[in-house]
Amino acid sequence: MSRGDELLAGYEEEVETVWREMTPRSRQLCERAERFTPGGALRSHSTGTYLAYCDRVDGSYMYDVDGNRYLDLIVGMTSIIGHNHPKVAQAIQAQIPKGLVTFMPDEGWDVLAEMMCNRVPSVEKVWPAFGGSQAFMWAIRAARAHTGRDKILKIWGGYHGTYDDAFVMTPDGSPGLPKNTMDNILFTSWNDKEGTEKIIRENKDQLAAVITEGVQTGGTIPPKDGYLTFLREQTDKYGIVLIFDEIVNFWLDHGGTGALYDVKPDLCVYGKGIGGGLPMGLVGGNSEIMKLFSQNETFRIAAIAAHQGDPVTVAASTACLNIMTPEEIARINTNGEYLADGIRGVLNDVGIRGLVIGHGNHQSVHLTTADQVTDPISYLLNANTPGLKETLALFRRSLINKGVITLEAMMALRVSTPLTTSEIDTSLDAMRETYTEIHPILKELAPDLIA
Ligand SMILES: Cc1ncc(COP(=O)(O)O)c(C=O)c1O
Repeated sequence: MSRGDELLAGYEEEVETVWREMTPRSRQLCERAERFTPGGALRSHSTGTYLAYCDRVDGSYMYDVDGNRYLDLIVGMTSIIGHNHPKVAQAIQAQIPKGLVTFMPDEGWDVLAEMMCNRVPSVEKVWPAFGGSQAFMWAIRAARAHTGRDKILKIWGGYHGTYDDAFVMTPDGSPGLPKNTMDNILFTSWNDKEGTEKIIRENKDQLAAVITEGVQTGGTIPPKDGYLTFLREQTDKYGIVLIFDEIVNFWLDHGGTGALYDVKPDLCVYGKGIGGGLPMGLVGGNSEIMKLFSQNETFRIAAIAAHQGDPVTVAASTACLNIMTPEEIARINTNGEYLADGIRGVLNDVGIRGLVIGHGNHQSVHLTTADQVTDPISYLLNANTPGLKETLALFRRSLINKGVITLEAMMALRVSTPLTTSEIDTSLDAMRETYTEIHPILKELAPDLIA
């Protein structure tokens, strides 16, 4: 065993010992869950140990059944108003006595639809779904119906939910997907204009849509040198539908990433946080394509579902949009930059090389010697380097022991509206302590990262 591996093994033991002392009840529940749920406790992301069980959540905090409190820097990857926002709770409570599912049109949806159309410059009509994956399935179907073509161009490393064509991430496909799914899926690299221009040109007569996020969530990598404008020009040139996935990054700007980068996609897909905590999904876009959703048209796509636009979720979503004013978004963007600057300072003080990139309330930490990170694949390859991957997994676990929850490798840190600057300072203190803990391990296993 190398000196680095020894240090890593010793650190793992330390971190796990603390965790077991903190969370005996959660451990019991995790063991029990294995009897009835495939894979055991739900949401068992790759933590390397068992999970804490939730007792309740509130604002920027999560509380587990063992009585521990955690600052939440993930907020479900986008529930930007934090947990249990009182205005959302009020809106839900006001709707419940009036009905959960109505099967009649009600004004609530019309109000929400008008708000979205007024808010997003590219959106003239919207249609409800109940989750990002379902909304994506319909957006892709609309693009195919509109163009009469089948192929979809995706960005390597992009995640767009689990509908077959949106999900497929590698040329090998994925278990359960028809083998010919890949016949219709093409990939290009984020920010690579030359490669993207070529693949679009070569497939122009078969391409129905180009799908992208405005900022790549994997690594929170912004577009470079007008990449989104370039995608708009290329798709316009060949009549290809440009679809923006706004499921995570809508909250970077009042009108989403389309407004932020001044690009008008044909369709936008919304989900997750837009429901204020309930499972909402939306497709929005220009009237011509959105006509395909109309029940009055004979040439229309199948995009109906029993619970779509249910009044409780609509009420929660409307409350959420009302909370997310331009001023509120500006405030959390400033807080996000404060967090990013703080982490840069910590890395500098502790002597670890890295970049903190993203936009406003959505940031990622990249431990790297590179002077920029421009695509999600190089980010993933770097974060998965043997030694670094294991060290960062333990970094995260140790941070959780200190009461701060982040995603793996400090990807996609989310600054929600209830998170205060003093809570950001608390997280920075925990990060400083934890980076100091892993410094000697990195020195052995990834010496290039030591400044
Ligand atoms: C960027 C992005 N697109 C799409 C989805 C899919 O949304 P849902 O989980 O609601 O189906 C997600 C969810 O993780 C996402 O992060």
